[in-house]
Amino acid sequence: MPTPTMRAISQDAFGGPEVLHPVELPRPEPLPTEVLVRVHSAGVNPVDWKTRAGRGMAGVLGEPPFVLGWDVSGVVEEVGFGVTVHEPGDEVYGMPWFPRAAGAYAEYVTAPARQFAAKPATAGHDQAAALPLAALTAWQALVDTAHLQPGQRVLIHAAAGGVGHLAVQFAKHLGAYVIGTASAAKHEWLRGLGADELIDYTTTRFEEATGDVDVVIDLVGDVHDATSTRSLTVLSPGGLVVAVPSGASPELFQRAETAGVRATSFLVEPDGPALRGIADLIDRGEVAVEVEDVLPLERAAEAHERGERGRTRGKLVLRVTA
Ligand SMILES: NC(=O)c1ccc[n+]([C@@H]2O[C@H](COP(=O)([O-])OP(=O)(O)OC[C@H]3O[C@@H](n4cnc5c(N)ncnc54)[C@H](OP(=O)(O)O)[C@@H]3O)[C@@H](O)[C@H]2O)c1
Repeated sequence: MPTPTMRAISQDAFGGPEVLHPVELPRPEPLPTEVLVRVHSAGVNPVDWKTRAGRGMAGVLGEPPFVLGWDVSGVVEEVGFGVTVHEPGDEVYGMPWFPRAAGAYAEYVTAPARQFAAKPATAGHDQAAALPLAALTAWQALVDTAHLQPGQRVLIHAAAGGVGHLAVQFAKHLGAYVIGTASAAKHEWLRGLGADELIDYTTTRFEEATGDVDVVIDLVGDVHDATSTRSLTVLSPGGLVVAVPSGASPELFQRAETAGVRATSFLVEPDGPALRGIADLIDRGEVAVEVEDVLPLERAAEAHERGERGRTRGKLVLRVTA
C-alpha cells in the first residue's frame, strides 16, 4: 500500500514570505503516548515569521526544509499505544512540541497526547486555533511568572495583539487594574474586553500616563522606542517587567537591579492543564478570542505578510481543512 500523504506548507530556505510553498509530505504516525491530529485550523504567530526568516526558533529547527506552525485545533484521528486521555474523534487544541518543530501548517500532526486539551466547546476550530500559543503566553506570564494578585496594577504593551488582548482579559479575570497601550482606533474594543485605561502609544509617552504599576507585560520589547527599558521607570519598588519578545539585552536586567525593580525574559511552554483552564474561561464567556481573519492554508505567505506589518487586531488563522 502506498504511504498516505498530506498537504503542507514548507520552505527550502530562510527568507521572506515567498519561501513558503505547498508540498505533499508523508502523513506522520503516532508513537506510543502520542496522538495523530487531523488539523482543521492552524494559528499564525510572530514566531512563525521570525523563524521563517532565520530568527525566532530557527536555531532549534535547524536548516530548512521544515514545516512551520505550532497552534493547532483539530480532531484526534488515531492514538498511539498507552494514550488514555484522548480518543479518536475528540476535538482538541494545543501548541505541541514548542520550541521544537510541530509542523502545524499541515493536514496532520503527531504530538504527545498531554500537550493537547479538549477544544473549548463554544469555539469553532478557527477560534480554538487562535488560542494556544497566545493564551498560554499571556497566562504563563501573568500567573506563573508575575503571580499577579487582585488589586495589582498591570501595564500591557501591545494590548491589541494576539497575546495582548488575551492578557487584558486574563488580568481582569484575576482582579487586576489593567492599563494597555494600543493605537487609538483599538481603544473602544479593548475597553469592552475589560481594560481600565488605554494609552495611545503613538501620541503619548506611556511613562507620563500610567502612574506606578506592579507588573509590566511587555509584548513590544526594546525594538520600538526602548519600550522594555522605559518600562522599568513605571514600576513600584520590587515590581516586575516580563520581557516577552526574545532578545532582551543583559543591560535591561542590570538596569532593573540598579533601580530596585525586576525584569525577566520568558518563553512559553506547552501546557495541557493550563489549556483546560483557558477552555473553561472561554466556555464560561469570561474570555473571548478575536480572530481578525481566516485564510486558507495555501495563502500562508499572505498571512505572514499581513502579520509582519504588526497591526493585527487579535489573531490570524489558517484554515487547513475545508
Ligand atoms: N517569548 C515568548 O514565549 C513569546 C510568546 C508569544 C509572543 N511573543 C512575542 O511577543 C510579541 C507580541 O506577540 P503577538 O502575537 O501579540 O503579536 P501581534 O499579534 O503581531 O501584535 C500586533 C499588535 O501589536 C500592536 N503594536 C505594535 N507596535 C506597538 C507598540 N510600539 N506599542 C503598542 N502596541 C504595539 C499593534 O497594535 P496597534 O495597531 O494599535 O499598534 C497590533 O495590534 C512578538 O514579538 C512575539 O514574537 C513571545
